[in-house]
Amino acid sequence: MQWYPIFKHIHMLAAYLTALLFILRLIMDAFGRPGWRRPPLRWIPHANDSVLLASAIALLFVTGWMPFVHHWLTVKVLLLVGYIVAGVFAMRQQLSKPVRMAAAAVALAQLLVIFHMAMAKPF
Ligand code: HEM
Repeated sequence: MQWYPIFKHIHMLAAYLTALLFILRLIMDAFGRPGWRRPPLRWIPHANDSVLLASAIALLFVTGWMPFVHHWLTVKVLLLVGYIVAGVFAMRQQLSKPVRMAAAAVALAQLLVIFHMAMAKPF
């Protein structure tokens, strides 16, 4: 069980970075500074998301928490899919500003609920 705090800290750090990097990209886009889309900057969120997912899988192994058994986790996984879809729309430059802003709001709302599910584990 000595791995648990390590995986959990990595997962939590990657989770907060995910939120920070998403908000930073939204702000840069809003100010007409799409420089983050060029490599290597554009790969940083992807690298962080890989760490987030790998640490999530590691946590499943060491804790015994399981999606579709523990429903806070099921909701988290479903919202993660929703967050990814909304996030893709929010970042799509071809879409109009109102559509992108609505998508960003939906993505951020889902992210908030993911954090709540992780911390409160209400069911
Ligand atoms: C955007 C995606 C995600 C975010 C923002 C996120 C966030 C968090 C946070 C903040 C915690 C720590 C909660 C606490 O204070 O105790 C946590 C724990 C955890 N997360 Fe995630 N997570 C995400 C995705 C996932 C996924 C996809 C899975 C697995 C399918 C997962 C599985 C877990 C597990 C098993 C724990 C440990 C619960 C415990 O032992 O207390 N997470 N997550």
